[in-house]
Amino acid sequence: MLNARKELNSIPDYIPGKSIDEIKEKYKLKQVIKLASNENPLGASPLAKAAYKKCVEKLHLYPRGSAPELVHKLAVKWKIKEENLIIGNGSDEILDLAARAYLNKNDYAVGASSTFSVYSSVTKAVGAKYKAFPLENFYYPIEPLLNFENAKIIFICNPNNPTGTYHKNEIIFNFLKKVSKDVLVVLDMAYMEFTGEKEPPLNKWIEQFPNLLCLRTFSKLYGLAGLRVGYGIASEQVIKVLKKIKLPFNSNYPAQMAAAAALRDTAFVEKSLKLNEAGREWLTQNLHKAGLDVLPSRANFICVKFGKRTPQIVEWLESKGMVIRFLGSFGMPEYVRITVGTALENKKLVGLVF
Ligand SMILES: Cc1ncc(COP(=O)(O)O)c(C=O)c1O
Repeated sequence: MLNARKELNSIPDYIPGKSIDEIKEKYKLKQVIKLASNENPLGASPLAKAAYKKCVEKLHLYPRGSAPELVHKLAVKWKIKEENLIIGNGSDEILDLAARAYLNKNDYAVGASSTFSVYSSVTKAVGAKYKAFPLENFYYPIEPLLNFENAKIIFICNPNNPTGTYHKNEIIFNFLKKVSKDVLVVLDMAYMEFTGEKEPPLNKWIEQFPNLLCLRTFSKLYGLAGLRVGYGIASEQVIKVLKKIKLPFNSNYPAQMAAAAALRDTAFVEKSLKLNEAGREWLTQNLHKAGLDVLPSRANFICVKFGKRTPQIVEWLESKGMVIRFLGSFGMPEYVRITVGTALENKKLVGLVF
């Protein structure tokens, strides 16, 4: 009998948002709208798509594992050295690298109870323990994490998935000042651009906090979720460690080139941010009018209380061709997460909910 490590039994299966094809097939539908995985409703950046197409003649070649073009562009964007960057096959790969690099068996990582589940799964995969702290009035807990003495990694999701709640830069900065330098802080900023807030000076932060690892992704704002590109920004010391265990060709060539092009696509970025802000406001107001509680989101999704019948309502919406995310697996069984869509998609959703 083949036995995997027994601590893996404590990792629940990851439940992704249901796919359009899955729902089309199940309900024999021609059209399905998916507002379940916080993807960009405008699709991918056009400059990224053009760059991706150009890669066709190079598919037989291995990519350069260090992703030099992309790293160079990111170093310029963030005013940091190239040695402060690592590219991942999605930012979730970097979460995995961080856990493998900094957690020993039976160590503790801490984070929120209702947040991105990969924090706990990468922790448990290395035989460490994830100590989950409850949200504080739907905000990511910060102070309680500081008081847990044995933590080797602190995960912070800001804005938090699935609530969309956001702590201002000053709060994060004050928190970083209090964390012991022998604890790795993973600051996951997958949705930061949608807050409309000024970016924190990450170049200064990583200098002041050599134990800080910031994560960013091309999956959301730039619309490249299918290509899998994310990156980490940290002190040279942390990046060097992560690179030791990174697989040599983790990010593929088309993904590297598309991401580099997406960074130049300011028109697409502006259009996406404008659409999101207007849609988030419209959805929030109209779902309020329908008598529903909507949490104050600063991301590209909103978190809404549907109450005791949430699973049934989610299933009924699916049967009508509208896929949203049930938050049972996030420990919030009376809530759903709805990605902000195009104006038409948002209208369709509200029409069904009313
Ligand atoms: C908070 C958070 N972090 C990280 C990720 C992973 O993003 P990526 O597609 O870059 O792996 C997600 C994806 O939904 C997320 O919600």
